[in-house]
Amino acid sequence: MSYPEDITEHLTTLRDYVRWGASRFNHAGLFFGHGTDNPIDEAVALTLHALHLPHNLPGGYFDCVLTPNERTEVVGMLERRIAERKPAAYLTNEAWFCGLPFYVDERVLVPRSPIAELIEKQFSPWIGQPDEITDILDLCTGSGCIAIACAVAFPDADVDAADISTDALEVARKNIATHDVGDQVSTVCSDLFDGLEGKRYDLIISNPPYVNSEEWRGLPQEYHAEPRLGLESGKSGLDCVRRILRKAHAHLKPEGLLIVEVGNSAEALDYAYPDVPFCWLEFERGGDGVFLLTADQLAEYRNQFA
Ligand SMILES: C[S@@+](CC[C@H](N)C(=O)[O-])C[C@H]1O[C@@H](n2cnc3c(N)ncnc32)[C@H](O)[C@@H]1O
Repeated sequence: MSYPEDITEHLTTLRDYVRWGASRFNHAGLFFGHGTDNPIDEAVALTLHALHLPHNLPGGYFDCVLTPNERTEVVGMLERRIAERKPAAYLTNEAWFCGLPFYVDERVLVPRSPIAELIEKQFSPWIGQPDEITDILDLCTGSGCIAIACAVAFPDADVDAADISTDALEVARKNIATHDVGDQVSTVCSDLFDGLEGKRYDLIISNPPYVNSEEWRGLPQEYHAEPRLGLESGKSGLDCVRRILRKAHAHLKPEGLLIVEVGNSAEALDYAYPDVPFCWLEFERGGDGVFLLTADQLAEYRNQFA
């Protein structure tokens, strides 16, 4: 699409820029799914960020006229999204999870797990007595979003936030400091359970990498801006998940629960372990591919995971 160089003379209000940005995004064939799922919301997020305005700006302000400098800033931000093909969250360095803002950059995946909904409900009905939960592990923590949201939802719990990437753990520590949960959340550099010898938890939550190599290669460009280590997990997509299933039992308390997101690899997992009764959780806000197993079930099917 060609447009006049003086586009800022033709568009005046905040709403004009959102509409124009969304049209440009559609024309450019951008992919959405890293925090927003459509071009309008993506254009709103970028426009408000460029204007230093809050993400929940009341609708009436969208009729406000922008100054010449503001128009240039907004157009620059919207054009960057097209030129760089990065998720908006990497341009704004902010993503929301469980109603909390997180600093993000290319060292971590953009938070978007449906597990947020479970955390907000304190894992009801699976957990009956939230105040009895004292030890939680967020395995493959990335930005620390799951660990920190759990610390907020379970104020009496200690939370380990583990990741193999020292880069990701730096981001997680920044978020832990911002949310002032350093007394509850500890980062651990660990290859899955290898660095967690002897530790047992009430709850192990994991959003590990689970995309198979072929699928990863075919993902839209926006995903390729994210760390490959956070997405791809071998030929079947199940390399990390298999290792988690093998060791999780040794790190759960007797009444403990394991909750793991495997996304599109759910079918492959059911196929790999046909006898294991994975409980696939349902979400009101959308999303799927998250299973729950109890410590007892992990013990019962131990031989299959070996
Ligand atoms: C899908 S991202 C999840 C990040 C975050 N929990 C979230 O939901 O946004 C997966 C994370 O697993 C980490 N990871 C990959 N392989 C790992 C391993 N073997 N041990 C520990 N962490 C690993 C990556 O560094 C990445 O941060």
